[in-house]
Amino acid sequence: MSSKKLVFSGVQPTGNLHLGNYLGAIKNFVSLQNDMNCVYCVVDLHAITTFQNPDELKNNILETTASFLATGLDPNKSIIFNQSSVSAHSELAWIFNCVSKVGWLNRMTQFKDKAGSDKEKASVGLYIYPNLMAADILLYKATHVPVGADQKQHLELTRDIAQKFNKDFNCKDFFPLPEPLILKNISRVMSLRDGTKKMSKSEESDYSRINLKDSSDEIVKKIKKAKSDSEPIPDNIKSLEKKPEALNLLTIYSEVSKTNLEKALIEMAGKEYSYIKGKLADLLVAEISPIGKEIVKLMNDKTHLTKILKKGSEKASIKAEENLKNIREKVGLI
Ligand code: TRP
Repeated sequence: MSSKKLVFSGVQPTGNLHLGNYLGAIKNFVSLQNDMNCVYCVVDLHAITTFQNPDELKNNILETTASFLATGLDPNKSIIFNQSSVSAHSELAWIFNCVSKVGWLNRMTQFKDKAGSDKEKASVGLYIYPNLMAADILLYKATHVPVGADQKQHLELTRDIAQKFNKDFNCKDFFPLPEPLILKNISRVMSLRDGTKKMSKSEESDYSRINLKDSSDEIVKKIKKAKSDSEPIPDNIKSLEKKPEALNLLTIYSEVSKTNLEKALIEMAGKEYSYIKGKLADLLVAEISPIGKEIVKLMNDKTHLTKILKKGSEKASIKAEENLKNIREKVGLI
């Protein structure tokens, strides 16, 4: 087995990337690209597992690419491309559909959440989505996958698929068993309106999230309005854990002020929420507004973004095709 480290991760182009996507995923991508070979993919085929308006999808693929670049991903260091432009992803996904088990997929909690109460109406794609994710990762024989906590189960499935493939086709260590890379404990940024729910682009109120494209005024307003309570900020983690909204503000604060939760708590204990909100708003404006402005600027030149994706796809294809050739051979396809 090759001991070379390779990072792979994917982000769905479903529009409106927010602080949760940034702190939970993309920011980590940037720090990894200096130390390891990295492949970052705009996973458009995952996005269409629920219906996407075609014009909006096109725009969102480019906007996600723009967000990658605006946060500091460098196409000269990392491979940046969109999934559907490398058809080997779909081909390997089909092979994995035949390796993976219905029983395994039935355990996936994300499908249960996303399909809701009427599973009969969910697309088949949504159901087999984790097999495509396994294909994304294993197509490049990636060893490390930075993901949020909600994707850990899918990564475990990826490991199961890799192991079963290696066993079924008698090729020990052919696919590495990829490890999750959860770099910091900030894998969950919660809604600003309800600290028990993940920050999400689908929550109705825009006040529940900070979008990367929000203006400075919007950021300040949203933090000011974020749910908190009338008591002062507690002085210990145990009490903080009983106040999900306060915990969320402190978690975000500790991340953007580059400290940890314990230290942030020492600084904030006994203070009013208006104090932490003021400081947090300043830090977020300083970190997020330049990214938002850069996204808007990059979106003014869609030809440039398309070119970057095309170049990335060419690089990704070389690795993908080489691996796929070996995979086909293992399976016995001529
Ligand atoms: N399923 C991931 C999400 O919704 C996106 C994704 C697709 C992904 N393929 C991947 C993440 C491969 C990591 C590696 O967030």
